[in-house]
Amino acid sequence: MIFYKTEEEVALMKQAAMLVSETLTEVAKILKPGITTLQIDALCETYVKDKKALLSFKNYHGYPYSICASVNDVVVHGFPNNTPLKEGDIVSIDLGVILNGWHGDHAYTFILGDVTNEILQLVKVTKESLYKGIEKAIVNNRIGDISFAIQEHTEKKYGYGVVRELVGHGLGKSLHEDPQVPNYGKRGSGAKLRENLVLAIEPMINLGAKDVFTEKDGWTVKTRDGKPSVHFEHDVCVKKDKALILSDYSIIEAAEKANSNLNTSYY
Ligand code: MF3
Ligand code: CO
Repeated sequence: MIFYKTEEEVALMKQAAMLVSETLTEVAKILKPGITTLQIDALCETYVKDKKALLSFKNYHGYPYSICASVNDVVVHGFPNNTPLKEGDIVSIDLGVILNGWHGDHAYTFILGDVTNEILQLVKVTKESLYKGIEKAIVNNRIGDISFAIQEHTEKKYGYGVVRELVGHGLGKSLHEDPQVPNYGKRGSGAKLRENLVLAIEPMINLGAKDVFTEKDGWTVKTRDGKPSVHFEHDVCVKKDKALILSDYSIIEAAEKANSNLNTSYY
């Protein structure tokens, strides 16, 4: 069942999404080689709790942490751990919060120091594909229009692998609501978009093949070929002429640019 939000509810969801963006901005300030993803998990948890919000992921179907930290060949749902991050790593930080009963859930991929042009391009194109999908999140379009736009820009244009097993989703009082938002599909297919449907759109794009597997921990999703994968996620509200993006990358990007340990040369 699809839940459409009222204007008041969209305003509350904006606050939840922005709390995630602010928290990821704090991450962008402190990220550097040597830091561990468990430290990032602790920072995020403290920041969110200080704002009187709850953590969406913690205990969600038994998920044991506050964030997902997915490094290099980890696609999504990576457990934070004690391994220090190092120069050349790409790390997606995915965070969900509940503020006044409404979920915010979004993610950003950071690059630590020097990486190959191949990886820079993968990060750039995955972020671009998210915005190409968002452009289609308008009234009377269909879910498949979003999916198609993402797949065209990544798989068709660059030959990247679009992960099939995991998809974006509706967002609201629950973390995962209908409809699903695949990153692949046919134009004009799927549910019709109506005003104030809130979606978490989240391309998961592999440098190599699309195939993934889940580790024995039951969560960590990795590429089969061991090549890197990139994940970006925004919370988006369907509107008539132009989708309203509830989360905000501009504050994350400003912090990223100000942090000399992070690579923003693809901008
Ligand atoms: N952004 C991811 C998603 O929407 C994160 C979920 S992690 C989980 O599926 F632990 F909450 F499942
Ligand atoms: Co999500």
